[in-house]
Amino acid sequence: MRPSRSPRTTHPVPARPRGRRLLALAAAAVAAPAVLVATAAPSTAVDDRAADRAKDRAVLKDHQNPRDTLRAAAPKGFYLGSAVAGGGHHEEQPYADPFAYDVEYRDRLAREFSSLSAENQMKWEYIHPQQGFYNFYPADAIVRFAQEHDQVVRGHTLLWHSQNPEWLTEGDFTDEELREILRDHISTVVSRYAGRIQQWDVANEIFTEEGEFREENIWITRLGPGIIADAFRWAHEADPKAKLYFNDYNVESFNAKSDAYYELIQDLLADGVPVHGFAPQSHLSTQYGFPNDLRANLQRFVDLGLETAITEIDVRMEVGEDGPTAAQLAQQADYYQRALQACLDVRECKSFTIWGFTDKYSWVPVFFPSEGSATVTTETYERKPAYNALQDTLRAATRAGWGR
Ligand code: XIL
Repeated sequence: MRPSRSPRTTHPVPARPRGRRLLALAAAAVAAPAVLVATAAPSTAVDDRAADRAKDRAVLKDHQNPRDTLRAAAPKGFYLGSAVAGGGHHEEQPYADPFAYDVEYRDRLAREFSSLSAENQMKWEYIHPQQGFYNFYPADAIVRFAQEHDQVVRGHTLLWHSQNPEWLTEGDFTDEELREILRDHISTVVSRYAGRIQQWDVANEIFTEEGEFREENIWITRLGPGIIADAFRWAHEADPKAKLYFNDYNVESFNAKSDAYYELIQDLLADGVPVHGFAPQSHLSTQYGFPNDLRANLQRFVDLGLETAITEIDVRMEVGEDGPTAAQLAQQADYYQRALQACLDVRECKSFTIWGFTDKYSWVPVFFPSEGSATVTTETYERKPAYNALQDTLRAATRAGWGR
């Protein structure tokens, strides 16, 4: 059975994180009705840039060959990305926020990747935790880090059904107010990072497996599908340089869901809506087989005049007590390699992002009980066959003159 057709492949709707540190901060600051913007860190968070950089440099010193990384292997103009761990499920784990506190993690993130995606830090719940109150601190930190390390950034995400704050989902707003809230959010967030975000996931996971608009999506359900075009227009106004994307899972293959995007995007383009990209997240599992039609599917969107990207790949597996077997790791490497090759083979696919690069911080075991080992390095950063397969494939593309 094709993975994309199997209901078992759908991932659960991410649960709202229970940690409320940011909300407490927000509530304290939101006494006045005016729009408040938090850029200061909570007192416990890392806020000392000079100290951060000194620590980063200290770790860097004992590092090996700077050519022996994923980003160094990639051809010029091809971006190798990772999600930046923080917020979301991490708040439930027995460790401090990885991006804020884990120096070795930060160091590897800087050395290995040329693109960063905010795993949770730009989602509504984090960046807009109270009405009229934006907390930009965690997102600012990512964008600043990216600039310091010569990395581009993918913004994630503006219009989604999940990880929205309660003030929004439980609020008693008229349709007109809701529309205004979305417009303000998109304009405020996108313009703040204008010129510093390469691609924005404007709309995330808007379709069901059957290709219907998801009913849980407050924006579409309340305001109608026309709000999607508005969202893209508002984002484009706020940052005319950013490439604006649709992003979803289980759209690696030709199926009802990817067909729904194919239809919708054609309509939007015909209406002159600034849509620039379509991205299969690519949360794969060795249980379900590789989507062999990935390249052809990417190509059909490129043929509409779009660009495309792989935005959240991981390859999970059923892990026994003794950990993954050599055969499982080989199969995982094969999936990662084929997904990367599919992207490299499509001219307008220039960005390949893994949803976390170490099992230490992966979302997979939290959301898919009994599955794990989904990233390219172990919890102690040992390279798996998948890491080597990606590096070899990137080097081969570089040698072959990719993009020329
Ligand atoms: C996940 C994060 O990795 C978790 O930390 C969080 O608890 C839930 O969301 N599709 C998406 C991502 O678009 O935003 C999701 O990220 C994974 C699935």
